[in-house]
Amino acid sequence: MSGVAPGSGSGDSAQRGAAITIAGLTKTFWRGGEATEALAAIDLEVPAGAFVCLLGPSGCGKSTLLHIIAGFLKADRGEVLVDGRRVTGPGAERCMLFQSPTLFPWLTTRDNVLFGPRAQGKPRAAAEREADQLLELVGLGAFRRHYPHQLSGGMRHRAALARALINRPRILLMDEPFAALDAITRASMQEFLLELWERQRTTIIFVTHDVEEASLLGDRVCVMSPRPGRILSATEVRLPRPRGEATRDAPDFVVLRRQMRAELARACQ
Ligand SMILES: Nc1ncnc2c1ncn2[C@@H]1O[C@H](COP(=O)(O)OP(=O)(O)OP(=O)(O)O)[C@@H](O)[C@H]1O
Ligand SMILES: [Mg+2]
Repeated sequence: MSGVAPGSGSGDSAQRGAAITIAGLTKTFWRGGEATEALAAIDLEVPAGAFVCLLGPSGCGKSTLLHIIAGFLKADRGEVLVDGRRVTGPGAERCMLFQSPTLFPWLTTRDNVLFGPRAQGKPRAAAEREADQLLELVGLGAFRRHYPHQLSGGMRHRAALARALINRPRILLMDEPFAALDAITRASMQEFLLELWERQRTTIIFVTHDVEEASLLGDRVCVMSPRPGRILSATEVRLPRPRGEATRDAPDFVVLRRQMRAELARACQ
């Protein structure tokens, strides 16, 4: 997939990523008097414009962490700062792509993408042009008039991505966004995201179970422990950019993938 989202030219400071500081974050869920400790003392520094991948076993608190950063959930202790400001709830500069994509069922794909700009009273023609370009980019040009129930699972993920991107967030919180895609579509979405990120330098925290995906995309790959989630290791990925299909065969990439797989296996023991 080539081309980047409209309005994504570099030099627009409003589009640059924001820095995230996570300090001493803990979260326990209570249900019928029973406690589930989801997160234990998470500390993480994400520089503005960085691409950080989170890898960890199922149930270790990855989604919980993203929900707290997004401001949808409150931590028990600790704090999240965005550009030095404490997060107390959702904010327009942060956009979350959920593990199960949430689209408005009564709106077409195109109207779902246009929801944000319309709610903000953005000029209609420009927003519609941008929505159409984004839908082409994510391969849904022919499905703009379909309703969510008429899309496949992977298509819904791509529609949700277009709906997020049109709002030009400074932080994208992505929860296994490509897990439901077939291998070819997934590779093309990874390339699309990398291309977009290289232009916009949106800060991205990307949760995945896929070691290859994390190694290909991230500046840094953090491996989490089983519940309660802690960050066990953070590996800086120094592979040259731009990265793409050719990167997967590079000897350094093969070594990194093996190392990350071993770290994940150790974390899961
Ligand atoms: N709303 C909730 N109420 C009670 N327990 C919850 C709630 N949300 C999450 N949990 C629990 O917190 C733990 C972490 O859940 P979370 O969804 O964050 O894991 P995850 O790492 O995203 O897993 P997966 O990789 O399977 O998506 C799990 O044990 C889960 O059951
Ligand atoms: Mg999850």
